[in-house]
Amino acid sequence: MEKGYALITGASGGIGRQLAYHFAEDGYSLVLVARSKEKLEELKKELENNYSISVLISIKDLSKQKEALKLYDEIKQQRITVQFLVNNAGFGLYGTFIETSWAEEADMIDLNIKTLTYLTKLFLPEMVERNQGRILNIASVASFLPGPLMAVYYATKAYVLSFTEALENELKDTNITISALCPGPTKTGFSDRANLSGSKLFESGALHVEDVAKVGYEQFMRGKTIIILGAKFKVATMLPRFFPRKLITKVVRSMQEVK
Ligand SMILES: NC(=O)c1ccc[n+]([C@@H]2O[C@H](COP(=O)([O-])OP(=O)(O)OC[C@H]3O[C@@H](n4cnc5c(N)ncnc54)[C@H](OP(=O)(O)O)[C@@H]3O)[C@@H](O)[C@H]2O)c1
Repeated sequence: MEKGYALITGASGGIGRQLAYHFAEDGYSLVLVARSKEKLEELKKELENNYSISVLISIKDLSKQKEALKLYDEIKQQRITVQFLVNNAGFGLYGTFIETSWAEEADMIDLNIKTLTYLTKLFLPEMVERNQGRILNIASVASFLPGPLMAVYYATKAYVLSFTEALENELKDTNITISALCPGPTKTGFSDRANLSGSKLFESGALHVEDVAKVGYEQFMRGKTIIILGAKFKVATMLPRFFPRKLITKVVRSMQEVK
């Protein structure tokens, strides 16, 4: 059977870009989406020069539902079968809730939650019809914890995990798998975008993006539902089971403080 395409949102940098290399290495053609045209063009050239695959790029602001629908329409027009949907595009914002910008938070909710859900709504039915396909949602260790100083971001990632686990259950009698990759702090453009660079979270023990993508890709391809890297972060996700939530929230706040 002809190999389908992997659609990766937020492929111009960070985790999405690294995941693109893994799909390319395995011979899957790609649809890469982000707002940065030059970065995507350069990545397309690099991937097509090095692998026998086709790479389509689509410049979209996925915090806008209309653009997500446009992306879906483009893919339909090209008669592309999306075998893998990677909902990776996302961002965070640092600061107390009374200080942060609503415009940015509204975009964050639209991108991290609404578009992820909408693209799943658009592509999942045809995966079920074919009884073939995998979806990878990029959640976070933040999905398991309340996050003072990034309250909205942590809450968006809690949604992603909850949504993924629920769909995994609904899909249990099909061949479709859905996974939530839950990285801890990872060195990408994320911390600068979130104004988080001085935070203790990124000072020591941040993960390397190549490791996140490699482990994430391998476990996703095996159909694992919740993917967490590293013993330290696995323990962090289990803390709310053993300690009072108020205490955990206090600890997260102290980790989030800028030095
Ligand atoms: N880095 C971490 O510590 C960490 C930890 C846990 C989870 N995550 C999650 O991992 C995912 C990837 O983040 P990353 O760390 O790789 O960050 P990154 O390096 O900042 O990459 C984010 C990607 O999303 C794209 N993007 C942002 N806003 C977009 C929009 N409105 N429309 C379309 N694309 C958009 C960016 O491209 P353009 O700017 O070109 O649009 C970029 O390709 C996110 O969901 C993030 O929440 C990150």
